[in-house]
Amino acid sequence: MTATPLRNSTREWQALDRAHHVHPFTDHEALGREGARIVTRAEGPYIFTSEGHRLLDAFAGLWCVNIGYGRKELAEAAYKQMLDLPYYNTFFKTAMPPTVELSKVLADLAPDGLRHVFYGCSGSDANDTIVQMCRYFWKLKGKPSKKAMISRQYAYHGSTVVGASLSGMSYMHEPADLPLPGFHHVMPPYQFGFGRDLDADAFGRQAAAAVEAKILDLGPDNVAAFIGEPIMGAGGVIIPPMSYWPEIQRICKKHDVLLIADEVICGFGRTGHWFACEYFGIAPDFMTTAKGLTSGYIPLSAVLVSDRVAEVLLAPGVEFNHGYTYSGHPVACAVALENIRILRDEHMIEHVHDDTGPYLAERLKDIAGHPLVGEARSVGFMGAIELVKDQATKAPFAPVGRVGTLCREHCYRLGLVMRATRDTMLLSPPLTWTRAHIDEFAEILSRALDLTQAEAKKL
Ligand SMILES: Cc1ncc(COP(=O)(O)O)c(C=O)c1O
Repeated sequence: MTATPLRNSTREWQALDRAHHVHPFTDHEALGREGARIVTRAEGPYIFTSEGHRLLDAFAGLWCVNIGYGRKELAEAAYKQMLDLPYYNTFFKTAMPPTVELSKVLADLAPDGLRHVFYGCSGSDANDTIVQMCRYFWKLKGKPSKKAMISRQYAYHGSTVVGASLSGMSYMHEPADLPLPGFHHVMPPYQFGFGRDLDADAFGRQAAAAVEAKILDLGPDNVAAFIGEPIMGAGGVIIPPMSYWPEIQRICKKHDVLLIADEVICGFGRTGHWFACEYFGIAPDFMTTAKGLTSGYIPLSAVLVSDRVAEVLLAPGVEFNHGYTYSGHPVACAVALENIRILRDEHMIEHVHDDTGPYLAERLKDIAGHPLVGEARSVGFMGAIELVKDQATKAPFAPVGRVGTLCREHCYRLGLVMRATRDTMLLSPPLTWTRAHIDEFAEILSRALDLTQAEAKKL
């Protein structure tokens, strides 16, 4: 059989997609009715469809294209590495130059104490690795009962059995009877949703206290670790009060519970810092990274492991029997090195921190004045806009999710990619957006909000 030639008709692609392609997180009946949007190319901040529509991508693919689309340097790095050495493994005492060099670069970039790196291909497998490392760590420390993992409702930590168990979305648990035993969830630090009557610091402490209550309920001798996204992404860009993370760190230390910061979205500049742990002033035992590590040009994840954990897992006589065929893949590592070079040499993160991040926050303030908006919030280039039925009381729409979807569809039609979780519009653009792109975004979103409001009135 010969390889299928590339076709050139949208309808043909849509028919084949409908017939053979199983999409993630998708209602296939609706997809079948409407047909997939076929994306054929991208340049800078824009994606283009097979019908020739240009869309401003306010979501950086899936929170990942931090340096923007179309950077030839990354393609060249991959090409060169494929010619030199397209693949080798890191099992059996072997390593490849880009893998070793990336490990050194990551150890230097990461917050203090995180100097050891383990590679995978996705955020999900990285979190699976961490759960196994946590349990093994406690076994080696003579505390084998410390197995439980504490996470939060609305958390997203991946889609594998372990990733979904760590995640706090009930719609991900129900189909396969998850979470696995030993995975627990507490309230998220979501002040707009659960604590508008409290001042921010008090609410942050209250949300952290829920973690301590769960540790005490399970018994500290049974708890391995707490995992959290510094700013929760897929759950609705939930930005915790500044009191939250230092309090979580204090609680974990007090009860000898490992602390995992899942920086799969937050890492590599999204918050205007290399890592959000710096923004919140915490030093975790593990950091999960993926997405922005290669700006999504090629799959790669990296688990950053603290000295405290590495001393135990890498001690003489200890073998950690775990790994993936593609752990430390040389092409992915070469691309990551080039991506990090661009982020650094072009001062992209400083630019978000000093100029475009604050400008985006300013424009979001204007958007917060729209009658459909209950709150607009952001840190760096990560933001959310809460759509509400009544701006004064912040009363939500019922059923939840319909108005968010309407707004997302209006955005698409007007040339803007946004995502909606419940009735919260989410924003995570490439770090390369200029003030002009932010103005373009704000203008399109305002029009989409007007159209959504007109329709929402009829619901
Ligand atoms: C915080 C976080 N962790 C883990 C993951 C899972 O990453 P992947 O989809 O690469 O498995 C995601 C994906 O969006 C994420 O946002």
